[in-house]
Amino acid sequence: MNILDIIAKKRDNKELSKEEIDFFVKEYVKGNIADYQASALVMAIYINRMSEQEITDLTISMANSGDVLDLSDLGDVIDKHSTGGVGDKITLILMPIIASLGIPVAKMSGRGLGTTGGTIDKLESIPGYRTDLDIESFKKNVKEIGISLIGQTLNLAPADKKLYALRDTINCIDSIPLIASSIMSKKIAAGANKIVIDVTCGNGAFMNNRLKALQLAVCMKRIGDLSGKETKCIVTDMNQPMGRAVGNALEIIEVIEVLKGNQEMTIDEKFTVTELGANMLVLAKKVNTIEEGKKKIIENLKNGKGFEKFVDLVKKQGGDISYLEDTSKFEKAKYIEPIIAEKDGTVRILNANTVGKLACYLGAGRIKKEDAINPRVGFIFEKKVGDKVKKGDILGYIHSDDKEKTEYVKKQKLFNIGYWRLYERSRYSRRYHI
Ligand code: URA
Repeated sequence: MNILDIIAKKRDNKELSKEEIDFFVKEYVKGNIADYQASALVMAIYINRMSEQEITDLTISMANSGDVLDLSDLGDVIDKHSTGGVGDKITLILMPIIASLGIPVAKMSGRGLGTTGGTIDKLESIPGYRTDLDIESFKKNVKEIGISLIGQTLNLAPADKKLYALRDTINCIDSIPLIASSIMSKKIAAGANKIVIDVTCGNGAFMNNRLKALQLAVCMKRIGDLSGKETKCIVTDMNQPMGRAVGNALEIIEVIEVLKGNQEMTIDEKFTVTELGANMLVLAKKVNTIEEGKKKIIENLKNGKGFEKFVDLVKKQGGDISYLEDTSKFEKAKYIEPIIAEKDGTVRILNANTVGKLACYLGAGRIKKEDAINPRVGFIFEKKVGDKVKKGDILGYIHSDDKEKTEYVKKQKLFNIGYWRLYERSRYSRRYHI
C-alpha cells in the first residue's frame, strides 16, 4: 500500500477501504507521509466527500491514533461539544449547572482559532486557573467535586491535531466528513459514553446554512451511535454573537454574573443552555422529558447551585475566586467606546462573522496558533436582534487597548437597523434536534 495510490483513488472519486484509511492516519502521525501529500488527500476528500463507511472508518482510526481515556470509574459521563461560534460561552454556564445536578462533568475543551473563541482561553483569564492538569488530577477532581474542565493537553487523537492544523492552512475546514470525523474522534477518545453536540449554524459558524448544519448533525449522530455512544445533536443559530459579551475576560464576567443571578441570560443564551442541558439530563436518565429537564436547569441556576459549583471548580484548579466574588477586579481595556444607533428602528442584523473578525483584530483571538491573546478586549452588546432602538441609543461597547484599532472598529458596520419583518424572528428561533 502506498500514499500515492490512496491519493489517486480519492482524486478519482472512489471509495477508500478501512485499511487504506488506517494506513494514511498511522503513517501521517508517524511522519512518514509529507504534509503536501496529506494536503492532496484532504483536498480530494473535501471535493469528492466520503461515504458513511469511510467517515466512520476515518473517525475510529483518528480516535485510536493516541490515548483513549477510560472514564468508566466516574459513572455515566456525558460530554458536551459545540462546533464553535462567536461569544459561545455555553459550556461555562451549563456545565457547572449539570455538575450541580449530580452528573459527572469531565470535559476537555479547546482554544480559539480564527473568529471562534475557545473555552480554555476564556478560563485562563481567571488568574491562577490551571488548564493543564494530568489525567489523574483531572479524574480526582471529578470524583471529589463532580467537575473538571481542562485543555487538550493529553495525547488524545493526535491525528486530528495534525490534520486540523493542516486543514486550516489549506482552507479545508468546512467539510462535513472532515468536521464530523474531527469532532467525533476527539469525543470518542475523551471517554464519555453519551454526547450532546451544539451544531452552530449561521455566518459566525463553520456551517453557514441550515442544510449543511443538518447534514453535519445527522452524520455525527450516526458515527456516535455506531461507536456505541448515544449522541444527540441540536442545531442552534449563530448569525449573531451568543449572549452579550465577546472576548475572553468579558465573557467570563458575563458567565459569573449570569450564574450569580445578577444578569438575565439573553434569549439565545437561555434557549441553548436549557435545550442542551435538558437533553443531557434526559440522556443521563435524570428526567423523563425535555420540559422537566429545562425546569431543573433553570432551578439550579436560580438557586445558586450552579454558581457554587463554578466556585468549587475554579478553586480546585488553582484560580483566584476573589475575581468571582467581585468581577470589577478583572483588568479593563484602556479604551471603552460606545457604539451608537444612527436611526430609529429594530435591530435586524448583528453580524456574528464581522464581530468575530473584529474581536480577533482587537486581540481577543488568534490568526495563527502561536499568537498570544489579550483577555481584556472585545465587545459588550446592549442590543440584540429584534430589539427596538432609538437614534442615539447605545448599542454596545468596544473594549480595546489600541486607539487606532478602536477608531477602525467604530467605522465598521456591525448592526443593521430597519423595519422588522415577521419572518425574521422565526429565522432566529427555528431549531432542530437530531
Ligand atoms: N471543531 C473541531 O473540533 N474540528 C473541526 O473540524 C471543526 C470544528
